[in-house]
Amino acid sequence: MKTMVVTGGAGFIGSNFVRRIAGRYPDYRVIVFDLLTYAGNLDNLAGVLDNERVRFVKGDIRDSAAVREVLRGANMVVNFAAESFVDRSILDPDGFITTDVLGTFVLLQASRELGVERFLQVSTDEVYGSVEEGSSVETDGILPNSPYSASKAGGDLLARSYCITYGLPVVITRGSNTYGPYQHPEKLIPLFISNAIDDKPLPVYGDGLQVRDWLHVDDHCSAIDLVLHEGVPGEAYNVGGDSNRTNIEVTKLLLKSLNKPESLIKYVADRPGHDRRYSLNCDKLKAIGWKPAKVFEEGLRDTVEWYLHNQNWWRKAKDSDSYREFDKAWYAGRK
Ligand code: NAD
Ligand code: TYD
Repeated sequence: MKTMVVTGGAGFIGSNFVRRIAGRYPDYRVIVFDLLTYAGNLDNLAGVLDNERVRFVKGDIRDSAAVREVLRGANMVVNFAAESFVDRSILDPDGFITTDVLGTFVLLQASRELGVERFLQVSTDEVYGSVEEGSSVETDGILPNSPYSASKAGGDLLARSYCITYGLPVVITRGSNTYGPYQHPEKLIPLFISNAIDDKPLPVYGDGLQVRDWLHVDDHCSAIDLVLHEGVPGEAYNVGGDSNRTNIEVTKLLLKSLNKPESLIKYVADRPGHDRRYSLNCDKLKAIGWKPAKVFEEGLRDTVEWYLHNQNWWRKAKDSDSYREFDKAWYAGRK
């Protein structure tokens, strides 16, 4: 039996990853370590927590005593835990710096001391900053523009340094914008699907011509699984969906899937420091045998179906005090 600690495993991508690992590796024990912030939810792990090889521990990656306790005896660590929403990082960056930078440091330090055999840092394409043309390769400069991407860049670079300096076997993935089941309804695709279901306006920032490379969560998880097992220590791997789309294209597609009118689109003030375009070259990951399996239009249709059939799940998140307060503060500051 090997033990894998998955931090942030009650969030969007982490919970999908835990489900994948529990199903595929009968000789792995999985410990989900998660603080259950507004973004973490045990409902995301429904079913999988019944598996006797999966255990949940509530805790904070910034708490070094708790981290040492949970990591004792662990063979692998996969770090998803983060504050993850750019808009919240603009309003209130503190938690981004403490969790995404300091928390990653605490995990790395404990992993080094306890002899963890593999550490995967889940990073993001946003660390490259806005890419006006072409596609980012892993050796490109890191030029983050938001408190979110800057704090993720801090975690990404610290993780690399622990491999180079101390020999901790670290691998890094830099995934692009991910979508699919269990994504918190503050993010573009679930926000727009859920607003459209309720005939509420879809707030498109600026001209809506910003480009993102959309990656289905199953493809993101298969890439993390592969890099964890086959990646070269000290290396970063881009993970993109081969699906560059403008925000307005995505918006119109999801309205069409729901049979809702484009009159729901409402152009609003742009996000400060808004990155115009992200685009990844994923040749390095493809060279070790990965490719995305989901075509965007099909993945989006499946995702629309999931949000139609799981309204209790997202309504609870949207009705929470945390979401209401954020939404009020965000729009109050931008009118
Ligand atoms: P999410 O916000 O849905 O989940 C984050 C999880 O981390 C939550 O369960 C939360 O409770 C937990 N958490 C937060 N602070 C914590 C702390 N201090 N200690 C322990 N747990 C804590 O995020 P997500 O979208 O699933 O993203 C997961 C990871 O993937 C993040 O590191 C993010 O930067 C990265 N990423 C996300 C995307 C995307 O499009 N969603 C793309 C690329 C990379
Ligand atoms: P988001 O899901 O926040 O991901 P990121 O900022 O990390 O790329 O947003 C995706 C894109 O959608 C981004 O260009 C911002 C835009 N956006 C809107 O236009 N309106 C919205 O209400 C939100 C949440 C995002």
